Amino acid sequence: MNQVEAIVAEGVTKSFGEGEARMTAVDHATFVAHFGEMVFIVGPSGSGKTTFLSMISGILRPDSGSVKVKGVDIWTMTKDQLADFRLNTIGFVFQDYHLFPRLTTAENIAIPLILKQQNWNASITAAEQSLSVVGLKGRGGILPIKLSGGEQQRVAIARAIVGSPEILILDEPTASLDGDTGKMIIAFVKEKVLNPQRCILIVTHDNRINEYADRILHMEDGRITALEQRTQ
Ligand SMILES: Nc1ncnc2c1ncn2[C@@H]1O[C@H](COP(=O)(O)OP(=O)(O)OP(=O)(O)O)[C@@H](O)[C@H]1O
Ligand SMILES: [Mg+2]
Repeated sequence: MNQVEAIVAEGVTKSFGEGEARMTAVDHATFVAHFGEMVFIVGPSGSGKTTFLSMISGILRPDSGSVKVKGVDIWTMTKDQLADFRLNTIGFVFQDYHLFPRLTTAENIAIPLILKQQNWNASITAAEQSLSVVGLKGRGGILPIKLSGGEQQRVAIARAIVGSPEILILDEPTASLDGDTGKMIIAFVKEKVLNPQRCILIVTHDNRINEYADRILHMEDGRITALEQRTQ
């Protein structure tokens, strides 16, 4: 496996609430993710998976600890640098797709490029190419509602990868899909989206898809309790 470090999280900690209600959502989490690997993050509801991902992707500032992405400590960046970092380096896919219902699939996918102030027509062309990558060639002109759940999730993946982010984060991407469709999505991501220049982190509850993980990070009560190696 390629051992170039993509993300180095050290002692990352986050608490919420005040006084007696104060609780630690992520407690000194230390973890290194490499380019070329697909890591699953598993654990009970409330164990801190989303909070941890938010901190390593520049969305939520940790109370303490550090996060380096490609050697750069992201939490020392200015607000603008952090926004650029999220736009250029990170792609996100959410459980319920987060597609805009009144935009066509191609327009949905083009959004990150438009945000980068790229020309509209060029963005739509890039969106169409990204749609081909996810096996939906020629479907750019229709509204998301016309697509099945699995196809909508592939549109969300196309949007996440259109700007060629090096880090892709999927938070329960298969939770709204039936088991077989969910498995197909993960197999697809591993085959077509993972490459040696990319690192993919996936939160999942579905242990039937464990075969696709290179490593599995287990979380419990805000702590990383185990790191399971699946492939060499
Ligand atoms: N903004 C917030 N304010 C207060 N508490 C929060 C906030 N975000 C998360 N928490 C709490 O932190 C803990 C961890 O939440 P988190 O969403 O990271 O868990 P999770 O492992 O992603 O769970 P799930 O599998 O249900 O998505 C939970 O107890 C949650 O209630
Ligand atoms: Mg979560």
